[in-house]
Amino acid sequence: MVRGILLAWIVVLSIAAASVHCEYYSTSTPYEPVRQKKTHLRFFLHDTLSGEKPTAVIVARANSTPKRNDPTPFGTTFAIDDPLTEGPELTSKVIGNAQGLYLSSSQDKNLTLVMYVDLGFTTGKFKGSSLSVFSRNPVTEANRELAVVGGRGKFRMARGFIKVKTSYLNTTNGDAVLEYKVTVVHP
Ligand SMILES: *[C@@H]1O[C@H](CO)[C@@H](O)[C@H](O)[C@H]1NC(C)=O
Ligand SMILES: *[C@@H]1O[C@H](CO)[C@@H](O)[C@H](O)[C@H]1NC(C)=O
Repeated sequence: MVRGILLAWIVVLSIAAASVHCEYYSTSTPYEPVRQKKTHLRFFLHDTLSGEKPTAVIVARANSTPKRNDPTPFGTTFAIDDPLTEGPELTSKVIGNAQGLYLSSSQDKNLTLVMYVDLGFTTGKFKGSSLSVFSRNPVTEANRELAVVGGRGKFRMARGFIKVKTSYLNTTNGDAVLEYKVTVVHP
């Protein structure tokens, strides 16, 4: 009997002790940022909407009549797996891929996309690492910029921007080659 009560007390006490430690958050401690490095990257992104094996496919679109000859009417959402290459030709060395979504987001005549894209690298020093892009992309502007909001692997907690230039664009079918010049700050 006495042993039973003792045992019950031990159970009660250990549950009480455990409940102190089972909040879903830790205590906050001072964060000392490490000295950051800056890295520049330059590559080309191939966004192919046409042909047998497109790298950008429509996954959603508005239930309205699109204008003729407009491959990207407002509201159209594409899923992409676009190769990234060293040079502007698709035959040049592949260094990674851009996977994610972009949305045609502008109601006026200037095409704007909002990009929700992960740029992953498959070769070299940054193999296995990737950059998170979440940004408006005003496609009709010659010198435009995307925001890099984070990253994985060597780019964990990265911040930066990408200067984008259109290297090739077919306005009929939407196929494009884009030059990406990345500036990124990371630990
Ligand atoms: C569309 O783009 C042109 C050229 O960049 C610019 O002059 C014009 O103001 C833009 N229109 C709108 C509605 O943003
Ligand atoms: C642009 O796309 C259209 C439609 O697919 C095609 O007929 C035309 O040849 C393309 N233009 C170039 C320069 O590749």
